[in-house]
Amino acid sequence: MPRRIFGSFVEHLGRCVYNGIYEPGHPTADADGFRGDVLALVRELGVTTVRYPGGNFVSSYRWEDGVGPVDERPARLDLAWHSLETNAFGLDEFMRWVAKADVDPIMAVNLGTRGTAEAVDLLEYANHRGGSHLADKRRDNGAVDPYGIRLWCLGNEMDGPWQVGQRSATEYGRLAAQTAKAMRRFDPDLELVACGSSHLGMPTFGSWERDVLTEAYDDVDLISLHAYYQPVDDDLASFLASAEDMDRYIDAVTAIADSVGAIRRSTKKIMIAFDEWNVWYQSAAPSTPPSGEDWPFAPPLLEDHYSVADAVVVGGLLISLLRHSDRVSAACQAQLVNVIAPIMTETGGAAWRQTIFHPFARTARHAQGTVLDVLRDGSTTTTERYGEVDAVDAVSTWDDTTGEMTVFLVNRALDEPAGVTIDITGAQVDDIIECVTVGGTDLHAKNTADGPDHAEPRPNDTARGADASVELTLPPASWTMLRLRAIDTTA
Ligand code: AHR
Repeated sequence: MPRRIFGSFVEHLGRCVYNGIYEPGHPTADADGFRGDVLALVRELGVTTVRYPGGNFVSSYRWEDGVGPVDERPARLDLAWHSLETNAFGLDEFMRWVAKADVDPIMAVNLGTRGTAEAVDLLEYANHRGGSHLADKRRDNGAVDPYGIRLWCLGNEMDGPWQVGQRSATEYGRLAAQTAKAMRRFDPDLELVACGSSHLGMPTFGSWERDVLTEAYDDVDLISLHAYYQPVDDDLASFLASAEDMDRYIDAVTAIADSVGAIRRSTKKIMIAFDEWNVWYQSAAPSTPPSGEDWPFAPPLLEDHYSVADAVVVGGLLISLLRHSDRVSAACQAQLVNVIAPIMTETGGAAWRQTIFHPFARTARHAQGTVLDVLRDGSTTTTERYGEVDAVDAVSTWDDTTGEMTVFLVNRALDEPAGVTIDITGAQVDDIIECVTVGGTDLHAKNTADGPDHAEPRPNDTARGADASVELTLPPASWTMLRLRAIDTTA
């Protein structure tokens, strides 16, 4: 399974960078101005990769503004979020932070207001060892070794009317192909992501993917998907089944990509970068950017406070990503800190875990090895949005180096507990290591800086194993992780 599916996203948006990961003067800040309390939580979260610097922000960003002596960097207007960008934090700071957080970078280039030349310049600055103008600039700025950034996003949400520099699918597909070709002249082994639709509900969904890939199939490796979920009209039952939408979305884009490949008689498969996903209360006030003459610095934007129900949904979305990890080779929960994020900070104060932190952290730590096929056979639950869906969704991983099998389950039924029997073909249960549950009660409870931590996984002591099966009970509207040691009886 590609560990890159446990990625996250840092955008110059609101307080994600400034007063999020970077706050010189904070009591825990290090010499680079990085908050130590946030770094500790990022490591605990288990994030493997981080996409940067946007998002919508990237589409009018000049990366050069963010490098070199800090006091010479220009302050600019960020057109995406109507904010002031001081450029105190840029590429070199991000790469230093990435090293401290022990994650891999994913870099996005601006194909909104800029194009191929600036993308190639950024690549030279970041990845060339030295002896050229831009690589030597990086060295002068203190980074002697090239960064070796491997995964690059060719723009962001280029189909969206909100995007600075929105394009038609064919225009964008050609630009992406041309930029990819130029970048590969520098390094043929880069992995390049073309923008898919901004979400499944876009009017051009489907034809956008087809037309972009018709232009760029041979030049890119992945296509992006973005999806954000929230309860609509208080319909909690459908919200709990959001993974159903994610499943359908991934299956649809895979089919479209494969059909373009088939028409070209190509043996190459385009992989999926689900590089923005999460719960996001988009209609809520914190999602509205400022307007008028006020261009605030690091305003609190998109600072959603998550409930226990939201945590159950995030656990379910991770199940969908794992199930599709044969095609989804990168994914980023959006975003990492303060902005629709698992980690929150108070400026000058505490950093704390939101409810959604927990299913992510547990899944990232314990989903190891190979993803197993899970055949589901059980009762269904009715949802307004997706019709009849399996009440229990599940995925499992098997780590043959440790003999550990982990099963992730969600009971999406609102009122009914689910009795589950897990039959393990070809293995014998040796030991139940741990079984923990989030949800079932207090679905609307939210965490705050002062606690308590409502979604901290609690022991589920219903799990009983015998021979080749385990029985357990899942409370209604809950996420559960079962870890067991199994002996492979097929060996
Ligand atoms: O993650 C917040 C925003 O959502 C991103 O900037 C954009 O890509 C998406 O629409």
